[in-house]
Amino acid sequence: MTATTTDQLTEQVLAAYASTPGPRLRQLLASLIGHLHAFAAETQLTREEWLAGIEFLTATGHKCDSERQEFVLLSDVLGFSSLIETINAAGGATESTVLGPFYVPGAPVRAMGEQIGRPEDGSPALVRGRVTGPKGEPLDGATLDIWQTAGNGLYDTQDPQQPRFNLRGVFVTGPDGAYQFRTVRPVSYPVPTDGPVGSLLRASGRHNWRAAHIHAIVSAPGYRPVTTHIFDADNPYLDSDTVFGVKDSLVRQFRPPGPGDPPDVSYVTDMDFVLTPQEGG
Ligand code: BEZ
Ligand code: FE
Repeated sequence: MTATTTDQLTEQVLAAYASTPGPRLRQLLASLIGHLHAFAAETQLTREEWLAGIEFLTATGHKCDSERQEFVLLSDVLGFSSLIETINAAGGATESTVLGPFYVPGAPVRAMGEQIGRPEDGSPALVRGRVTGPKGEPLDGATLDIWQTAGNGLYDTQDPQQPRFNLRGVFVTGPDGAYQFRTVRPVSYPVPTDGPVGSLLRASGRHNWRAAHIHAIVSAPGYRPVTTHIFDADNPYLDSDTVFGVKDSLVRQFRPPGPGDPPDVSYVTDMDFVLTPQEGG
C-alpha cells in the first residue's frame, strides 16, 4: 500500500521500524518518528524550512571538535539537557542540573578550606556545608569536584592568563560529612555565540547569559552521584538562565561573614548536599 495522507505515511514508516529487535530502541524510534512527523504535519513545514533545518544541524556538527560540543550547547539552550536531568532525578537527593561543557576531570585534591582561586579572580567567598544521606547521616569519604569561572567570566580552559586547574578542586569529607572551600563569588557569564547556537539565540531574541553559579559533582561510595550547581540568590539571570539550569532548591545567599565566620572572606554561603543510595547497593 502506498501512502497518500500524512497519517498514512507516518503509519507506513512506523510499521517499517516496528520489528526493530531491541525493545528499547524500538520504543525510542517509534516515539521519535511519531513526534517528528507530527511536528512537520502540524506546522506544515515547507521544503525550504526543512532544508534550513538540515543546514543548521550540519553547521552545528561542523562547529564541534575535541574542545567544543555545539550539539550539547544546542541541547542546553533548548532546555533539553535540563529536561533530561529532571527526568532522571533521584527523589530525595539534592536536585541536579546541567553538567555544561567546561568540566575537566582530574582537578587536584585540595585541603579542606583551601582557596581554589587567586586574589585577582574576584571577591573571596567561603562555601561550606555537609554531605549526607537521605536520613541526614553524614557521609564519610564523599567527594566534591568543584569548578567555576573567574570574575572575568572565563574558565581556566578559556583563558590563557589563568593557570591550569585554577578555580577547580576536589574536596573529600571526613566522618562528619562536613566540607568547606574558599573561592570567589561567582559571576554571570555568556555562553559562546560564535556558532549556530548563537544564531538561534539572536533569531529568538534570547540573551546568552548564565546565572552566576559554582559547579559541583558530589559523590560517595555506594551513593548516586549528583551533578549540580550552587546559584547566587542576588543574580539577575536566575529567571532567564540561557540553559534553563536554575532550580529554586539550589539558590543560596552569598552573605557577608557574621560573628564566628572566618574574617578572611567577603562572603559566606551554606550549601548541604544529600545523596541517595545506589540502586542495588
Ligand atoms: C556551564 O555552566 O558551564 C555551561 C552550561 C551549559 C552551557 C554552557 C556553559
Ligand atoms: Fe558554568
